[in-house]
Amino acid sequence: MNTTAIYPGTFDPITFGHLDIITRATKIFDSITIAISNNFKKKPIFNLKERIELTRIATLHLKNVKKILGFNDLLANLAKKEKSHVLIRGVRTIFDFDYEIKLAAINKQIYPELESVFLLSSKEVSFISSSFVKEIARYKGNIKPYLPKEVHFALLKKLNFYKK
Ligand code: COA
Repeated sequence: MNTTAIYPGTFDPITFGHLDIITRATKIFDSITIAISNNFKKKPIFNLKERIELTRIATLHLKNVKKILGFNDLLANLAKKEKSHVLIRGVRTIFDFDYEIKLAAINKQIYPELESVFLLSSKEVSFISSSFVKEIARYKGNIKPYLPKEVHFALLKKLNFYKK
C-alpha cells in the first residue's frame, strides 16, 4: 500500500526542528505532503507563497517530499481532499501534548479515517520554535544553528538586516 502522510504547520519559517520530523517521516512513509496553513491569526512574517517557496528549497534533497501546498481550510478537510489518512505531528516536550491530543480528537471527529502519528523531536532540536528564531533574529542574535542556509538569508532579508 502506498501511504501518503500529511505534515501540516505554519512554517513561518521552516526550521531544523521541522526538517528533523520531515526527514524521519520520509523514512516511514512512501510520500509526504507538506501542508502550510495560511494561519492569519499567527500573523506570519512570511506570506504563504514565501513559506511554500522556502519549504520547497529546504526539502529539495528529500525525494519522498512529493507535494508542498498552502491551505486555508480545516486540516481534516484538506486530508480528505488529498486522499490521505495519516497526519504527522512533531512533539517536542510534554507541553505540546495537551494541544496535540485536542487537535487529533477534533480532526478525527471531522474525518474518522484520519490517524495522527506523533514523532518525538530529536533532543538537539526539541527547543526550537519559529517564534524563538524570529525573536533571536530581531535582536540580531545568531540564528544560523536553527535554520537552513536559504531560510536564514531570507529571514535576515525580511528583517532588513541583509541586502543583496
Ligand atoms: N521542532 C521544532 N519546532 C517545531 C516542531 C518541531 N518538530 N514542530 C512544531 N514546531 C514549532 C513551530 O515552529 C511553531 O512555532 P511557533 O508557534 O513559534 O510559530 C510551533 O511549534 C507550532 O507550530 P506548528 O506545528 O506549525 O503548528 P501550528 O500550531 O502553527 O499549526 C496547524 C497547526 C496548521 C496544524 C493548525 O493550526 C491547523 O490545523 N489549522 C487549520 C485549521 C484546523 O483544522 N484547525 C483544527 C480544528 S479547529
